[in-house]
Amino acid sequence: MPEAPHPTSLLETLEAITGPAGLLRGADAAPMLADWRSLYQGAALAVLRPGSTEELSACVKACVAAGVPMVPQGGNTSMVGGATPDESGRQIVIALTRMNRVRSIDTTDMTMVVEAGLVLKTAQDVAREAGALFPLSLGAEGSATIGGVLSTNAGGNTTVRYGNARELMLGLECVMPDGTIWNGLRRLRKDNTGYALRHLMVGAEGTLGFITAAALRLFPLPREEAVALCAVADEAAALALFRRFRDQDEGAVRAFEYMSGGSMHLVLDHVPGVSLPLAERAQHYVLVDLASSRPQAGLRGLLESVLEAAMEAGEVLDAALAESVAQRAAIWKLREEHPEGQKRAGASVKNDVSVPVSAVPEMIRRCSEALQKLIPGSRPVPFGHLGDGNIHMNLAQPPGMAAAEFLARSHDIMDCVNEIVRDYGGSFSAEHGIGRLKTDMMEDWRGGAELAAMQAIKAALDPLGLMNPGKVLP
Ligand code: FAD
Ligand code: MLT
Ligand code: ZN
Repeated sequence: MPEAPHPTSLLETLEAITGPAGLLRGADAAPMLADWRSLYQGAALAVLRPGSTEELSACVKACVAAGVPMVPQGGNTSMVGGATPDESGRQIVIALTRMNRVRSIDTTDMTMVVEAGLVLKTAQDVAREAGALFPLSLGAEGSATIGGVLSTNAGGNTTVRYGNARELMLGLECVMPDGTIWNGLRRLRKDNTGYALRHLMVGAEGTLGFITAAALRLFPLPREEAVALCAVADEAAALALFRRFRDQDEGAVRAFEYMSGGSMHLVLDHVPGVSLPLAERAQHYVLVDLASSRPQAGLRGLLESVLEAAMEAGEVLDAALAESVAQRAAIWKLREEHPEGQKRAGASVKNDVSVPVSAVPEMIRRCSEALQKLIPGSRPVPFGHLGDGNIHMNLAQPPGMAAAEFLARSHDIMDCVNEIVRDYGGSFSAEHGIGRLKTDMMEDWRGGAELAAMQAIKAALDPLGLMNPGKVLP
């Protein structure tokens, strides 16, 4: 092994590669050392921000030579501490936020090639300006980057229609753990040429290298949209309403989101600038979003007729149909502010779980009961992507309990939910990934051949273990 250079000389080498704008330390680096949920406070040698794939490649080679672990970061919106360095101060955070160019866009092929640091919202805007849709949509889209959403295989609101981030990716460019650049930016719908390395990198949470650019799929822009917020009788009624829309026109459902009263009311009570467009508060809500690229698709008529039938059946109690773009945005804001509402209301524990859609109502009811038994006075605040079976079975702290006392029970709370989810063949992490928070669950849930294969892949691609150590794998 070559003797590791002193960190100061490594930082000088890195700064020579990136220029002074590429190396942040002290107060400038501080925001990148803690996670969005404030679960972890890390430390690092520095935050490095290379300006190009070639610069990143040279930086990675320098870090490998120095034996310094690297933590990839995008918008730093991870829900599982995936982009936060450990507390040792020996790791280096490498943020790709300066690598944010749109390299090409083609509305015949319906593809767009963008760099990893491009913010998701900007990618959506660029596609729209070119007359196409990049459909991935989530609450953090104003900060999350393309590299981040691919590295976590983010899902979000439109999975029911367009799939997860993986389904929107055709090819990748990456810097591998030894600094080699791999250009796999193929824009092909068919490409069966051996192991699909691009799919290994998606969802790897930065443990197998850096995603530096991606070829993404685009779709036709919707010509008609219709959005409603409904108060529904219970969780089963929410599912029944989803089935009604799916049975009428499956292709029209762009998003179908469930929100419990407990969760919605944290938003109404703690987030400024929101209001409920219904006569009174309810115990259960659904946001239905229909969209079609067909002219005269008749979505408004579909929305009204389905809701009318569901009201007659007692499933829908009240509904507000958006009459303008502004009203659509206001209804969506109520949904998108759920993480913020929970954050402002005090400590909460997140359970990002998925089950087959048919099991969602029973799973929510069983988990809510079990959680209230486990922590008396706690408030289950479930909400999420009912259309794809991913519910955020979150729990808000009991009023009056100290946050630290509540958070000390985090793993009991997660175990309580996960054991119920297991009964339905569900997943303990549907869309947020494993990061640092859930590595200890991997042996139990993925142990045996699956985890052994993951460990073999990690050892083959990152034999020195320098890529985001302590994340994903136990
Ligand atoms: P970061 O948080 O910076 O990083 C996430 C992980 O990817 C880390 O492990 C990091 O090391 C790695 N990484 C980042 N960039 C790269 C790269 N270029 N190459 C290799 N590895 C990289 N997620 C959902 O799926 N659905 C939601 O609906 C959703 N809603 C959210 C709402 C809010 C308010 C917030 C704060 C988060 C939400 N998330 C959601 C979490 C979600 O994981 C992120 O928003 C997004 O996927 C992460 O993007 P990012 O650029 O912030 O990545
Ligand atoms: C969301 O869908 O808003 C986030 O993924 C969920 C969360 O904050 O738990
Ligand atoms: Zn979500």
